Amino acid sequence: MPGLTRGLVEAVRRAGSVAALTGSGISAESGVPTFRDAQTGLWARYDPQQLATPEAFAHDPELVWKWYAWRRGLVEGANPNAGHGALARLERSVPAFSLVTQNVDGLHQEAGSEKVIELHGNILRSRCSAENVTVEAYETDHVPPLCPNCGAPLRPDVVWFGEALPAAGSRAASEAARSCDLFLSVGTSGFVYPAASLPYEALESGATVVEVNPEPTPLAPDAHFSLRGRAGEILPELVRAAFG
Ligand code: OAD
Repeated sequence: MPGLTRGLVEAVRRAGSVAALTGSGISAESGVPTFRDAQTGLWARYDPQQLATPEAFAHDPELVWKWYAWRRGLVEGANPNAGHGALARLERSVPAFSLVTQNVDGLHQEAGSEKVIELHGNILRSRCSAENVTVEAYETDHVPPLCPNCGAPLRPDVVWFGEALPAAGSRAASEAARSCDLFLSVGTSGFVYPAASLPYEALESGATVVEVNPEPTPLAPDAHFSLRGRAGEILPELVRAAFG
C-alpha cells in the first residue's frame, strides 16, 4: 500500500498513546454523505444557513426537523465499515487511545469503539430546545415533536453553526491531542474549527501526525505521513501491519 512505510508502522506499534480525529469521510463508505465533497456532499445540495443554525430552527423548525429526520433515516440504515472497525481494533491494541469524532452518526460506537468523544453531538438523540436536556420518549404527532415536560419543540442533539461545542468533550479532545504520541486525522476536510485545530495541537506537542484522506487537505503539508486513499482500506491495512 502506498505510504505505508516501515517508519509509520513502527510509529503506530510503539505509540504509548494514540488520538484519532474523524470526520464524515470515515462514514462515506457506509453510505452516509459527507458535507463538502463536490458532487455528493450535503453542503453541495443544501444551504447550512437554512438548516444547521439556531436561527434556521427558530425560523422554520418543521423544515429543520424534517431534514434531520431524513438524515437520521440514512444513519439508521447504515452499518459501520472496515475503517470504523480498524479504529475499534486500534483502541484495543495500544495502551491509551482517544477517539474524537465530528460525526453525529454513532457508527464508531456500533463498530465497538468504547471511548468516543462526540464533538458535534449525535443525530440519533433529541433534546428539548428550551431546557437543554436529552429527551428519549415523545409523541410524534407534531413536527417537530414537543417536549413531554415543558411543551417546547424538540431539536436534534447536535451542534449547529454558531453554537459552542460541549465543554467537557472539547477539553478532553484538546488534552488527548496534546498528550498523544501519534495523532490520526481521518476523513475530515479540516475546515471546521475548533476540531480542525486538534492536529496542530498534537504537532505542537511533538506527536507524529498522520492524515488519511483520498484528497489532500490543508493539514497535508504539515503531517508527517499523508496517506491518500479511503479510510476503509488504509486503516485496516495500517492496523494489520502494526499488530498482525
Ligand atoms: P467534509 O465533508 O468537510 O470533509 C470530508 C472529507 O472526507 C473530505 O476531505 C474528503 O476528501 C474525505 N473523504 C471522502 N471519502 C473518504 C473516505 N472513503 N475515506 C477517508 N476520507 C474520505 O466533512 P467534515 O470534515 O466531517 O459540522 O466536516 C466537518 C464538519 O462540517 C461536520 O462535522 C459538520 C460540517 O458542517 C456541523 O454540522 C457542525
